[in-house]
Amino acid sequence: MRKMPIQNILPGMKTACPVVTDGDSMLIGAGYVLTPKNIERLVDMKLNWVMVDDPLTAGIEPTEPLRDSVRRDLQKKMTKLVDEVRKATPRPPESTWSDYCAQFRGQPLPAIAIELAEYIALTAQREIEQDSKKVIAYMPAASEELYLVDHALDVMCLSIMLAQAAGLTGKEIGELALGALLHDVALFFLPVPEKHDGASEGEFYDTGALKEEHTTVGYDILRKTPRVGILSTIVAYQHHEYQDGRGFPQGITGSNKILRGKELMQSKGIIHPYAEICALVDTFVTLTSDSRNRIPLPFDKGLDMIMRLAGTRLNMELVRLFLGHAPRYPLGSEVIVQNGHYSGSRAIVAQISHYALNRPIVKLLEDESQTRYVQEITIDLEANPSVLVRGV
Ligand SMILES: [Fe+2]
Ligand SMILES: [Fe+2]
Repeated sequence: MRKMPIQNILPGMKTACPVVTDGDSMLIGAGYVLTPKNIERLVDMKLNWVMVDDPLTAGIEPTEPLRDSVRRDLQKKMTKLVDEVRKATPRPPESTWSDYCAQFRGQPLPAIAIELAEYIALTAQREIEQDSKKVIAYMPAASEELYLVDHALDVMCLSIMLAQAAGLTGKEIGELALGALLHDVALFFLPVPEKHDGASEGEFYDTGALKEEHTTVGYDILRKTPRVGILSTIVAYQHHEYQDGRGFPQGITGSNKILRGKELMQSKGIIHPYAEICALVDTFVTLTSDSRNRIPLPFDKGLDMIMRLAGTRLNMELVRLFLGHAPRYPLGSEVIVQNGHYSGSRAIVAQISHYALNRPIVKLLEDESQTRYVQEITIDLEANPSVLVRGV
């Protein structure tokens, strides 16, 4: 299967996974041959991409932190969580954004939202713990509508994976997972265009007012919410702090090391490791996922950016760990061959080995004039070190 951008979908292509709309209703099942009418509908729904099946990519499945069925269950639960949070503190008609903000910042999350959050965090942690060999990779959100939900789930899943790599205990990972899931909890209240309050797109994206405030608002909400521990709360509070002290809201610094036990207890006033893990993952997920106001970076470019931010913005030791566990070209992603005999060809990553994480085996799809290869041609990048590729 391969991830096909919506603008490249043609009638006759077959879906490889169900297309789900709002975390609940299924629009099209797997194995469905798309018609021009279906495609029109997908475009109307502002989907970014659809997984399609074709003979060339048969058997190639992208690496995801969660199995598809679990992912869909958690998406549903997370959609409900966001709805319950909004329902508990509805926006009064005609109220200004800051009035509304002042209203919900003083409220704890409703009990049902916390039950759902605990369920989601625990399920993801258990699922990820089952396969500790999994590399850090994920599939960015497929639709604008699910962006908030997918962002929370992706940041949580990748935080769990990075925490595992850093050797955190199960209890610590659980605290981090809950904090990472709710790190942007204040943004759950943002009006969504077309869906809530008739808010304009301008207002939706004018998060400037909430930019710094969402950390302190989130902190205030979670602090008042029973069953959310202080360390989970700190993730929401500190996930935009920088190692060099130029972040917000407090402008505290980091140590650029992964502090544990005694070392951590002795170092007061610096960014908590949970928040540093969340900050790194949040930056990476934001850079690599689709959003209406930003073109997503392919994984290799996202990792380069993370590398550039190491030391000043992101924790250096965590970045090193992340780069050692996240492939530049994840399974099922597409690349362009940069040089040699197949220069300009488009290929799909068909196999990744843990020993050569950044030199996978790729399968050629089409040449530079977009003619599909009839014969199966693969290139083992580990065995051909001079061949360069870039992610698309
Ligand atoms: Fe944030
Ligand atoms: Fe975020």
